[in-house]
Amino acid sequence: MRLTEELKKSLTLHVDYTNMTDKYLGDKGISQKEIESHKKTAKEAHAYVAQNRGKDELFMGWTELPYNQDEIVNDIIQTAKNVRKKFEYFVVLGIGGSALGPIMAFNALCHLHYNDLPRSKRKGPKFYVEDNVDPVRMKELLDVIDVKKTCFNVISKSGATSETMTQYLIIADLLKAAGENVKDHVIFTTDAKRGNLVKISAELGGVKSYVLTDGVGGRFSQLSPVGLLPAAVLGIDIKLLLKGAAHMDKLCKSADLKKNPALICALLQFIGMKNGKNIGVLMPYSDNLKYVSDWYAQLWAESLGKNVTLSGKPCNVGQTPVKALGVTDQHSQVQLYTEGPYDKIVTFLSVERYKEPFPIPHGCEDIPDVSFLGGHTMEELIQAENKATAYALTKAGRQNYTITLPEVNEFTLGQLLFLFELQTAYAGAMLNIDTFNQPGVEAGKKATFALLGKPGYAEQKKELDNAASDAEYIV
Ligand code: PA5
Repeated sequence: MRLTEELKKSLTLHVDYTNMTDKYLGDKGISQKEIESHKKTAKEAHAYVAQNRGKDELFMGWTELPYNQDEIVNDIIQTAKNVRKKFEYFVVLGIGGSALGPIMAFNALCHLHYNDLPRSKRKGPKFYVEDNVDPVRMKELLDVIDVKKTCFNVISKSGATSETMTQYLIIADLLKAAGENVKDHVIFTTDAKRGNLVKISAELGGVKSYVLTDGVGGRFSQLSPVGLLPAAVLGIDIKLLLKGAAHMDKLCKSADLKKNPALICALLQFIGMKNGKNIGVLMPYSDNLKYVSDWYAQLWAESLGKNVTLSGKPCNVGQTPVKALGVTDQHSQVQLYTEGPYDKIVTFLSVERYKEPFPIPHGCEDIPDVSFLGGHTMEELIQAENKATAYALTKAGRQNYTITLPEVNEFTLGQLLFLFELQTAYAGAMLNIDTFNQPGVEAGKKATFALLGKPGYAEQKKELDNAASDAEYIV
């Protein structure tokens, strides 16, 4: 795709927050006065992000990923070409920030039944992301792949995550048993110097590896080799993805709320959180965007769910992300959104032009309840339902806003990711918390180490073993 300025403009995302305001929601909405009263907070958050962008020591290296990876991107494209030639299966082993990005991009930009297509209709090998240690899932993956024909991309920044390393042990063992050289079947994405994958690579005689730099945390890593290699293997235009991110970055330069989509989204959520909107629903009206919600849920929850401010004051902040899919969840959760507690903000992701409008044929002419659908397209139907749900929520006094993607492609997905990343960074700054740590995740990881007898965790193991259930509460 040749990106002229005109094309960029026609593919630019926009945010419509009319349905958040008191103009449409009365006393259930946010007034201009309230927005004005938080202008200083927004300005400071904007300045914090602008001043600290690119700083690895503050985990803000992700802001530069759209600009500083030319060499690495060319290397990834070459590696992806080799993988496509050599392998029939590509399996990502990773979890959390090392898996949700690849899943999202795969679902958004590839055929929705990609693995079921014949090889001639797929741009790359069959693709799987294994982000759990359910033994059944592992066994059943092995039923459908042939390890001799598989490339495993082991993604772990720490190289110490039990789930990913367990998977690695299993596949290394299987490859050896099949008489294969493990090194020929794995690509590592990990820290530059630290971590077990670095040691394993040395033991295996130098595995092809990509680096996840210090300043890029897992949940901000989709635009690093974590997300770019799997995407390139699938034939996704990763240069265009990065251009989309850079485009959004440019759109978010201003400290003016009217000119910075990420800043206004962050402020609306921040005001919401202050006013008891403890739940943030993300509801894409597109199956391709379904897993954006999973990726966003981690980004938003892990970044903002904190119990201490930057100055060390206790706090318990954050907003629970809820994943919904339009129109599917209209027939499930929307009843609650419309009539339940006023504790949610619903963010719709709308699409202007679907890859396929799919015409609805005429038929059942003697049944008007059905025949009125004929002659329309499924695109019209899904868009009408999206509009109708936003209208119904607004009528019921429920705060909602819409982010519209003109199309779903690399350029627009890159914009969306960067919009959400910046929004999260701004919101964290508004809440005055450390957006980029995750002590709550680390605590669970350490307790697992202790339970499974990792050296150095004996004390914690004792404590866990003694934490017996109380019979009084067992039914
Ligand atoms: O966002 C995060 O930091 C986490 O979700 C991690 O990505 C996840 O725990 C996996 O960690 P690692 O990449 O070290 O295996």
